[in-house]
Amino acid sequence: MNRAWWKEAVVYQIYPRSFMDSNGDGIGDLNGIISKLDYLKLLGVDVIWLSPVYQSPNADNGYDISDYQAIMAEFGTMEDFDRLLSQAHGKGLKIVMDLVVNHSSDEHKWFVESRKSVNSPYRNYYIWRDGKNGGPPNNWGSWFGGSTWTRDGATGMYYLHLFSPKQPDLNWSSPALRDEIYRMMTWWCDKGIDGFRMDVISMISKPDILPDGPAENGAQYGDFTPYCIHGPHVHEYLREMNSRVLSHYDIMTVGETSGVTVEQARLYAGEDTHELNMVFQFEHVDVPGKYAGWRTNKISMPFLRAVFSKWQTGLNGKAWNSLFLGNHDQPRSVSQFGDDRPAFRVVSAKLLATWLHMMQGTPYIYQGEELGMTNCPFESVSEFRDIDSLNGYRTWVENGPLTHEQFWPFLLFKSRDNARTPMQWSACPNAGFTSGTPWIRVNPNYTEINAEAALADPDSIFYYYQKLIRLRKTYPVIVYGAYTLLEKNDPNLCVYFRELAGEKLLVICNFSDKKQAYTLPEGFLGTQILITNLNRRAVDEPSLTLQPYEAVVLRRPA
Ligand code: NOJ
Repeated sequence: MNRAWWKEAVVYQIYPRSFMDSNGDGIGDLNGIISKLDYLKLLGVDVIWLSPVYQSPNADNGYDISDYQAIMAEFGTMEDFDRLLSQAHGKGLKIVMDLVVNHSSDEHKWFVESRKSVNSPYRNYYIWRDGKNGGPPNNWGSWFGGSTWTRDGATGMYYLHLFSPKQPDLNWSSPALRDEIYRMMTWWCDKGIDGFRMDVISMISKPDILPDGPAENGAQYGDFTPYCIHGPHVHEYLREMNSRVLSHYDIMTVGETSGVTVEQARLYAGEDTHELNMVFQFEHVDVPGKYAGWRTNKISMPFLRAVFSKWQTGLNGKAWNSLFLGNHDQPRSVSQFGDDRPAFRVVSAKLLATWLHMMQGTPYIYQGEELGMTNCPFESVSEFRDIDSLNGYRTWVENGPLTHEQFWPFLLFKSRDNARTPMQWSACPNAGFTSGTPWIRVNPNYTEINAEAALADPDSIFYYYQKLIRLRKTYPVIVYGAYTLLEKNDPNLCVYFRELAGEKLLVICNFSDKKQAYTLPEGFLGTQILITNLNRRAVDEPSLTLQPYEAVVLRRPA
């Protein structure tokens, strides 16, 4: 396997709206990020992925871009961005931008022009169709609720939007559109950014004919994914993007590839396929259910283990994994995969970190994960800000089959706003995030869970992440070693080997809130403890009693 800086890096994701507000308007901004670069440096990460900071009417908090080469006024100016980039670089931190080019905002000048007339030079930048039988061109349902089609008054035709009507899909089959996108990407690369995280990039290619999708048990809308995910030309477009833009720069790329399989990932992120460096897969979070992804159940360890083990072995030597448990679309990782009850929050957050960071791939830390931030105890629907949560409520409660009481637990557990409450910097009012009124409520546990407290506590989750990152930089086996799963059927323990040139790590994680017995495999008695989330000092007996949520990593040199 080839070495590369982005394989050895650890990425920290910032959701700028919720990270740090510098001017008291209640909204995080670029100067706020600049003021926290030393904090990130102390943590030890190499790369910052910025969720979108471009000009946007904020229908989907910046994932609806109206100018790809301007900064959202609430976040600052292009001068602020340039200062962020140069200060980050000065500290040895790289900046990866979110690239949202499956769709733009309906307020982007391309769409404003496109909708005016069928003869507009921009008409073909979007996907327009005639209606059918007095309704939309097909039965597809959007991921944010309702039809994927909106009829536009000026020409009476419908435009496609796989997300909200304010996010019209760009038409990648137009060479002129692709040229514009490559030009814009080149402009950012020339500025000196260090890479792109590509939003729903697996959905950019649509077939010419757009048939009805399967609709389950009489559901109102059909599923577009069989036609739009890994569409007919997606790999061709990415190879073109690679040869026209990406290959000219020493940058990293990660594709958000909903619905990706191991086989597909080998194409998107293969060692020699000339598309992307790595992809995000979602099998561990996109659990099929009755309510289109809304659920209250945590993900079980055996399921998590099966998914990750498949990806660890399936990509080894062929393509590169990205490793994440949290992001701005997911519940907080300690609430979704760990145990956020006070007695177990810290230990289980450290367990999850150990389990993830000891695998092969590039780890991603979502802001606040290094503090063990939890889901938020929202109290009413009016506290939610997220388009997906509010549309979900409309679809399932106001226009749908569920009562408020039935849907409320789904919203509380799964809403994307759990990840979007302000970063908890201190026990000061509003968690030290803003001197104004925050745009979304602060999780009340900030008085206890905050960065200032973490930095003052040598046993904090923060310093545990710092140590994990240091270990990754010290032992190439953590980055490149092959993964082998042990104890495949144990209901509580997840145990695996990593191995590189005769050096071996044994990672033992007890995912339960009870003690568990474990017998060491041969050759590990008395070996070095690389890291542990409790106070185990040595492994001088073959039989271990693991404490609730204990994680321990042993190393046997070559
Ligand atoms: C995926 C992003 O992560 C999510 O936040 C956004 O709503 C959709 N793509 C649409 O851009």
